[in-house]
Amino acid sequence: LADTAMSLFHEVPQAAPVAVFKLSQDFNNDQFPNKVNLGVGAYRTDEGKPWVLPVVKKVEKIIVNDDTLNHEYLPILGLPEFRSSASMIALGDDSPAIHDNRVGAVQCLGGTGALKMGAEFLRRFYNGNNNTNTPVYVSAPTWENHNAVFSNAGFEDVRPYKYWDAENRGLDLAGFLGDLEGCPEHSIFVLHACAHNPTGTDPTREQWMQIAEVMMRRRLFAFFDSAYQGFASGDLDKDAWAVRYFVSLGFEMFCAQSFSKNFGLYNERVGNLTIVARDANNLKRVLSQMEKIVRTTWSNPPSQGARVVAVTLNSPVLFTEWKENVKTMADRVLLMRAQLKARLQSLGTPGTWEHITDQIGMFSFTGLNPNQVEYMVKEKHVYLMASGRINMCGLTTRNIDYVAESIHEAVTRIQ
Ligand SMILES: Cc1ncc(COP(=O)(O)O)c(C=O)c1O
Ligand SMILES: *[C@@H]1O[C@H](CO)[C@@H](O)[C@H](O)[C@H]1NC(C)=O
Ligand SMILES: *[C@@H]1O[C@H](CO)[C@@H](O)[C@H](O)[C@H]1NC(C)=O
Repeated sequence: LADTAMSLFHEVPQAAPVAVFKLSQDFNNDQFPNKVNLGVGAYRTDEGKPWVLPVVKKVEKIIVNDDTLNHEYLPILGLPEFRSSASMIALGDDSPAIHDNRVGAVQCLGGTGALKMGAEFLRRFYNGNNNTNTPVYVSAPTWENHNAVFSNAGFEDVRPYKYWDAENRGLDLAGFLGDLEGCPEHSIFVLHACAHNPTGTDPTREQWMQIAEVMMRRRLFAFFDSAYQGFASGDLDKDAWAVRYFVSLGFEMFCAQSFSKNFGLYNERVGNLTIVARDANNLKRVLSQMEKIVRTTWSNPPSQGARVVAVTLNSPVLFTEWKENVKTMADRVLLMRAQLKARLQSLGTPGTWEHITDQIGMFSFTGLNPNQVEYMVKEKHVYLMASGRINMCGLTTRNIDYVAESIHEAVTRIQ
């Protein structure tokens, strides 16, 4: 009887695959021996392998051998020593806002989870409203998930703000400031804290000051996304400058931190949503509602990754070791940038390639157009995003000549 009935799911439309994971799948299925994956945003060693940070390996052993630990549920808002360790990273351990007890945190499932919890909260409670119609601005272009995370949280008006100047391969500051001036008051702006994905182009300190001035005057909400702290400059404090500057000006704001990249803890899903409120009383009520949202989403977070991070940050020795590990990753990216630019220049590849070393963080926005990208993938087995974004960590001393020659061919043969 059942088999004659139509499935209850027969009208479910097929969703499109997530581009970056589809690209990796195509890469894995490719039999070409010299194939190169410059797609997914994860660190690779010069051997092209994932890297378990030595400090993480060490801490994991400490955790395994610690018989006082168990697998009881964590509190809904997360591991206490993770949430309120002196803020060694995002805000800095001397942040006056922390001393004023107006900074709180929610341990989340990765940076994505932190964005999601922040978005769910803002949609319900930001500025005393039901915020379905409050505009949320994301940079053009941005990490593709920003749009969907905010619209799935119920924001019906997610818009781009001007960011990338394709012609000059740099920041469109005038356009960005124009959108800040022209948007409705109280709009929400998602800002990349450092190492902008996908363009690798950040505002300078002077430019951040201009951005902050308009945002303060026009009562705009800053929601920082900090997924690559340490990757921009190799220095955690330098990479946190913009976030700390906004806090120092007295903004009430959010910051979603991911530990996926800088701790190499991708699949452990470690994230932290920082809430900076006007005062301790406001913070208390915000956290009480955050607890309700988390309770109906994942109820309480996993412990392993958060423990690795907390143990590392709470030991001066391990903290120093971790900073060295981060620097190792950042330095390798810088080396690959310099080498790729040098090779393209010596091949005489048409166009300027200064942007490869001007851009920072994990990604480079090459400027290759969709046809050239298709040529790279189909003819050269070099996998990159349709936007022309490449993950610099996918380059190694062994494949960099092949990649440079492939870019040269794509640029010279394909319009
Ligand atoms: C800009 C940006 N934000 C957030 C994330 C999410 O990180 P996570 O994997 O920790 O959820 C990423 C990951 O690629 C990212 O690039
Ligand atoms: C999480 O955020 C809070 C508030 O900013 C901070 O005190 C804490 O140090 C952060 N945790 C980690 C592991 O960075
Ligand atoms: C919020 O606003 C949207 C659109 O105006 C409306 O559909 C929804 O019912 C409102 N929700 C509440 C709780 O007021």
